[in-house]
Amino acid sequence: MLEKIKKIKEEILSGLSSTQKDAESFRLRYLSKKGIISELFDSFKALPSEQKKQYGKKLNELKQLATQKLEEIRASGESTGKEKDKPDLTRPGIQLPLGTRHPVSIIRREIIDIFTRLGFVISEGPEIEDDWHVFSALNFPQDHPARDMQDTFFIRRNPDILLRTHTSSVQVRVMEKQQPPIRTISPGRVFRNEAISARAHCIFHQVEGLYIDEGVSFADMRQVLLYFAREMFGQETQIRLRPSFFPFTEPSAEMDISCSICGGSGCNVCKYSGWVEIMGCGMVDPNVLDNCNIDSEKYTGYAFGMGIERIAMLKYQVNDLRLYFENDKRFLDQFISAW
Ligand code: DAH
Repeated sequence: MLEKIKKIKEEILSGLSSTQKDAESFRLRYLSKKGIISELFDSFKALPSEQKKQYGKKLNELKQLATQKLEEIRASGESTGKEKDKPDLTRPGIQLPLGTRHPVSIIRREIIDIFTRLGFVISEGPEIEDDWHVFSALNFPQDHPARDMQDTFFIRRNPDILLRTHTSSVQVRVMEKQQPPIRTISPGRVFRNEAISARAHCIFHQVEGLYIDEGVSFADMRQVLLYFAREMFGQETQIRLRPSFFPFTEPSAEMDISCSICGGSGCNVCKYSGWVEIMGCGMVDPNVLDNCNIDSEKYTGYAFGMGIERIAMLKYQVNDLRLYFENDKRFLDQFISAW
């Protein structure tokens, strides 16, 4: 037994055992319940009492030595542990993935950019509107189907309050506040009570345009819209204006562009007609000017309105409206823009 004690003592003092680098493995080897020293204590108990005196002292000394050594290993381990925690300033930084702009935002910016180059300024209005700004001031007769509950989200407690169904309401707000010359565009969200499908959604985005001054003509409107179409879809783009009806414009038209996909020769996007519709427009009805306290004898003007998703669908050839609202990162990551 004395031999064993001596060997263990030497082992501890030499520091050669691999366990001496790590406090826990050292403790397990020497000081745990099943460790070498505890085993020695067990065999010590079985010794005849006259031998106990001789070994007891040596064993206690050995245990003390091991305990002291364990403290030392722990102390040195702590200091090297702290070293490890210090940041390594030479390591490269963590790269944060950069987001992309939403396609609707990209197209909205492009539309705004084209019209602001022509001197149009941006104006905005509330999404929760009243009947006057969305319908009445815009010359909608009381029984017009667009006021029907099926198209418009009304606030149940007050049918005078509703979610705007078009950004034409902002025209009214601008004209009420400001006298001509007025040259403004109004981008914004609009709401309609539609079942969601590939071609319809209950929320979408529009840009409204309004130009009012003395002597503004239909030809002025046509030229500005031609400029817009060519900036947006390419210089070879042609436009055509088809007679249409809106309560707030007279005359009214719908504008088609030559199909940007097939160049006019016919494809399934333009349904083999060579043309695709992109907006409504017309000369502001004198009733609307009068409703907004603008002298309809003195001033004339034009207005136009387009859906941003519709332009995006044509530009990106993504024909399911729902994709613009789902925010699937795999879809959004495909749109890289200069904006
Ligand atoms: N507000 C119309 C709509 O939502 C679009 C529109 C048509 C706006 C003709 C206009 C316009 O300003 O002149 O369908």
